[in-house]
Amino acid sequence: MPCDRMIGPYPCCSVVQGDCLELMKALGNKSVDLLLTDIPYNCSQESNGLRVLDYGVWDKDFDAEDFAWNNFRLTRGSIYVWCHETQLSFLILALRQQGFIDRPCSWVKRNPTVINGEKIWLPALELCAFGKRPAATFNAICKSAVWWLSPDTERFHPNQKPLEIIAAQIQASTNDGDTILDPFLGSGTTAVAALKLGRHFLGFEVSETYCQIARQRIALVEDQPNLFAPTKIRLTPELFEDTI
Ligand SMILES: C[S@@+](CC[C@H](N)C(=O)[O-])C[C@H]1O[C@@H](n2cnc3c(N)ncnc32)[C@H](O)[C@@H]1O
Repeated sequence: MPCDRMIGPYPCCSVVQGDCLELMKALGNKSVDLLLTDIPYNCSQESNGLRVLDYGVWDKDFDAEDFAWNNFRLTRGSIYVWCHETQLSFLILALRQQGFIDRPCSWVKRNPTVINGEKIWLPALELCAFGKRPAATFNAICKSAVWWLSPDTERFHPNQKPLEIIAAQIQASTNDGDTILDPFLGSGTTAVAALKLGRHFLGFEVSETYCQIARQRIALVEDQPNLFAPTKIRLTPELFEDTI
């Protein structure tokens, strides 16, 4: 079922290729119900005694604070921003100062990448800043935002987030038919989860290759009937291991 909504000048449920920092300027305040994204971590590094990491130019010199101050305005509901630990406090402060209530969330990787393990602890923790406008939707009553999970076995992006966790965040903070913006869409995980859950999305992504990957993943979901019927990424109880 095609989506005929628009979000500002952009067709809803589409992947738009380009620099999101420019594209977002065309969106008005409170254009979407949820801003859910995974920003550049600025973690590409020359050798500092550990293995060299290079995700590409997009991962260098990204200003998380500037992103927050210009773009948190876009949601009428909540925000999730997956980020590096060095960015978390800037994002939480920006949320607070813009009138959101906030909480850090985390993904504890059950099988972290074995990297530099002879020199330092393995990297097993991913962090996410959560904020909500005080009256925004919240469906995860008395749940904690700590998810224990292995990375998805189907890998499309080096920084891919597990579909189940993104789905849990979407379910917690939106209702059927709501609209989600992911300006750093990568391989399209947010879009896939949104569609499977009967939500609408808008994705921006600078890399044409990742746009194509995202569109392919989305097409697989769209091939299923009842696109906007509320289905069904099954949330496993183990996700909430610390609460059971
Ligand atoms: C951390 S990754 C997101 C991965 C995603 N969560 C997934 O599951 O596939 C960030 C993505 O943002 C894209 N990106 C970086 N800077 C951008 C910009 N200014 N505008 C749009 N996309 C950008 C990168 O190409 C990269 O794919």
